[in-house]
Amino acid sequence: MRGKFITFEGGEGTGKSTQLKLLSDYLSAKSIRNIATKEPGGTDIGLDLRRILVTGDKDKLDPVAEALLYFADRRVHLTGKVWPAMETGEWVLSDRFADSTTAYQYFGYDKRVSRKVLDDLYALAVGDFVPDLTIIFDLDPEIGLKRSFAKADNMSVKETRFESRGLEFHQRMRHGFLEIAKENPERCVVLDANKTIEDLHHDVVSVIEERFNLQNAG
Ligand code: TMP
Repeated sequence: MRGKFITFEGGEGTGKSTQLKLLSDYLSAKSIRNIATKEPGGTDIGLDLRRILVTGDKDKLDPVAEALLYFADRRVHLTGKVWPAMETGEWVLSDRFADSTTAYQYFGYDKRVSRKVLDDLYALAVGDFVPDLTIIFDLDPEIGLKRSFAKADNMSVKETRFESRGLEFHQRMRHGFLEIAKENPERCVVLDANKTIEDLHHDVVSVIEERFNLQNAG
């Protein structure tokens, strides 16, 4: 049976990467084979694209160029890693996917790229494939950005190109994720990320168990 594709979405510093790892461990304990991956940077080529996208001067790329590069990363990720894994029955947990492009490159930049351009790029790079479930981690960007900058202090290469866009960009992006959730109520679940790691993990597990009927599995 084809594996599931679950995406973790949200702003900076919402704790989604930590939650993804915890969910991966939880699924493994239930004998559900799974891989944890991310965008941008889930493949070797993706890591090169990631360096271009998340480091350096915030104005070095315009929103259209950014969207093209994110979709290039996505195409390589899907064809080289996500789809082959799903074919073998593995569940794929992805730290970000196409909703991030809509939230950042469309809403974040105050709609300087049209939604139609992003929809066309999606059709080209992804086709009619969509995640089985998207969990959106919602957090006040003032809290998230503080966490994210604190983490970057310990990085040798600072991945803070988007963090340095300022609060308004991040507030528009947060609002964007909530709009996406409203537009896709079947696919998306919004979780309040202003919780302890343990409490948030509990919420993630509740969503997964209910959605995929796992209560009695494992
Ligand atoms: P990360 O820090 O969650 O790994 O994500 C890398 C950065 O790239 C983050 O600031 C969000 C941004 N991003 C976009 O702007 N558009 C996208 O499509 C994706 C996947 C990420």
